[in-house]
Amino acid sequence: MHDFVYKDDELYCEDAPIARIAEEVGTPFYLYSHNTLKNHFRNFDAAFAAIPHIICFAVKANPNIAILRLFANEGGGADIVSGGELFRALKAGMPPEKIVYAGVGKTEAEIHSALHANILMFNVESTDELIKIDEIAGRIGIKARIALRVNPDVDPKTHPYISTGLKENKFGIPIETALENYQAAMRLSNVEVLGIHKHIGSQLTEVAPFVDALERILLLADDLTKDGINIKYVDVGGGLGITYKDEEPPAPAELANAIVPLIKGRRQGYTLILEPGRVLTGNAGILVTRVLYMKKSGRRNFVITDAGMNDLIRPSLYNAYHNIIPVHKKDAKAIKADIVGPICESGDFLGKDRKISCKQGDLLAVMSAGAYGSSMSSNYNSRPLVVEALVKGKDYFVIRKRQDYTDMLIKEEVPSFLL
Ligand code: LLP
Repeated sequence: MHDFVYKDDELYCEDAPIARIAEEVGTPFYLYSHNTLKNHFRNFDAAFAAIPHIICFAVKANPNIAILRLFANEGGGADIVSGGELFRALKAGMPPEKIVYAGVGKTEAEIHSALHANILMFNVESTDELIKIDEIAGRIGIKARIALRVNPDVDPKTHPYISTGLKENKFGIPIETALENYQAAMRLSNVEVLGIHKHIGSQLTEVAPFVDALERILLLADDLTKDGINIKYVDVGGGLGITYKDEEPPAPAELANAIVPLIKGRRQGYTLILEPGRVLTGNAGILVTRVLYMKKSGRRNFVITDAGMNDLIRPSLYNAYHNIIPVHKKDAKAIKADIVGPICESGDFLGKDRKISCKQGDLLAVMSAGAYGSSMSSNYNSRPLVVEALVKGKDYFVIRKRQDYTDMLIKEEVPSFLL
């Protein structure tokens, strides 16, 4: 479900014509629908209403502070993986008691700031990290609340780059050694053991791997209870997929129907933590780009756009499919073309072999770009980061201005010996 729809062959976001926004902010730009974001959050939240739960939005999917604020206003928290994400979450008004912190390489400085911020818990990914957190917490006299991120060794059946819950992945503590790590954690004087965490991958399109992984960590949780280790939070991570093309991922309610019964009524009285990213923002955002040139090389047609892999890297990096549609629908005959950006790399494409009807100067919408779109963009080829705008009804709000050339150079310096 989303709010990007044609009205008389003209693409709108809610009640705002996208072409008008393009005239005013220039291209390329990311555009998000407030209504879609809000509905996605509420829909997800409602699905888990039967049990105590916290929805910690995976900030990496879309870290814009306006979007974080929107979710905070809806009662959400944050799943963070860096000091930068902590900074953003706090700036956006996310309550620290709803922030969980994962990531295999937390630095001392990052651990320090998360302790000072009094976040809900660290999702600890190794024995070394556990010891480091205890040491820093002891030094500053703050008790660290922790969960162990357990790697349940379950195949999420998704792209290998976004699988995280298999033994061969770098994430989490292997399930076989989890119990001894919990016991070790109990012996540390500056940590409080509060939960268990798992996240097995992203863009999952089946319920089974979620259930499988949860069953495995709940067995471990039972062992913890037997050992007198009482945890309060079961954090199941994120990973629910969306439709980019023809995938049919389970709806949040289907996921909830499968996992809520596993938690509900257990005597331990767990609070469930969920870390959705893509499912909340993916289909709530698009990338709008203008056709700069059309050209033909041999038998291949190319549509050259002003957005490239630095703006949206998913097609280049994961061979990911994003639907690309014209902002003004045309009757003209469609051609088959590669839709490519201006970056000096052959891997710079937004879509390959697409049927499209467009000409120089037309606007195109790259759909489902609201998750891992803007957040993974870069300045490659010295291209400024683009505008992000949020539509509400017929109005839009710029939630990130376009960078200019000076912004890109702000931290650079030529040493005096070169002058
Ligand atoms: N929790 C943890 C610990 C994670 O590592 C992730 C994503 C999430 C939650 C959120 O997962 P989601 O609900 O969005 O699937 N750049 C890739 C996706 C990488 C996901 C990394 N971790 C892409 O563009 O597909």
